[in-house]
Amino acid sequence: MLTVAVLISGTGSNLRALLDAAADPAYPARIVVVGADREADGLEHAEAFGIPTFTVPYEAYPSREEWGRELDAQLRAWNPDLVVLSGLMRLLPASVVAAWSPRIVNTHPAYLPEFPGAHGVRDALTAGVTLTGASVIVVDDGVDSGPILAQERVSVLPGDDEHTLHDRIKPVERRLLIDVVRRVATGDLDLAATSVPRIR
Ligand code: GAR
Repeated sequence: MLTVAVLISGTGSNLRALLDAAADPAYPARIVVVGADREADGLEHAEAFGIPTFTVPYEAYPSREEWGRELDAQLRAWNPDLVVLSGLMRLLPASVVAAWSPRIVNTHPAYLPEFPGAHGVRDALTAGVTLTGASVIVVDDGVDSGPILAQERVSVLPGDDEHTLHDRIKPVERRLLIDVVRRVATGDLDLAATSVPRIR
C-alpha cells in the first residue's frame, strides 16, 4: 500500500477526490497526512476522513528556506512514499525538492509546458487559446518544469471566465491525479525512471 502526503493551500477539491478514491479498499494508496501553508479550507476534507493534518504557515517564517525546513520535517515525521502537491500555491525551496524528488508530484491546471506558474487558467484565457488542459508532473527545481506524467486537453469555450474554465479543468485534473497515484502504487509508473530530463 502506497502511503501519500498531500499538501494544499486552498479549497482542496482535488484532495477531496483523492480522499474519496482512497476510501475504496481496492485503491492501492492511502493518504496518511494532509499539510498546508496556511489555514486552508481544504483541511476540513482530511478531518472529515479522520486523517491527520498539519499547517506550516508560510508567513510565520523569515525565509522560504526556513519554512521549507519545517515543512520537510513534518513530512519526514510521516515518511510517506509519495508527496502530492494538490493546489499548494508556494514554490518549494530547492532543499525540499532535492529531499523528495522524484517522489513528489504536482497537479497543474494547464497543458504544460504551456502556462506554468500560479495563474495557469488566467494565462490561457489571456493568451486567447481555444485549447488548454490539465497536467500532473514530477516536481523539479523549476516552476512547473518537471517531467510530465499525465496530461489531457480541455477546450476553452466562448464566454469562459477564469472560474468556469477552472471548474471544467479540475475534474480532468482529479481523474489524472487519481490515476497517476494508482499507477505509482501498482508500479506501472516508475517515478525514478521519469525524472531524468527537464522539459526545457
Ligand atoms: C488546482 O487546479 C491545482 O491544479 C491548482 O490549484 C487548484 C487547487 O484546487 N494548482 C496550481 O495552479 C499550482 N500552480 P483545489 O484546492 O480545489 O483542489
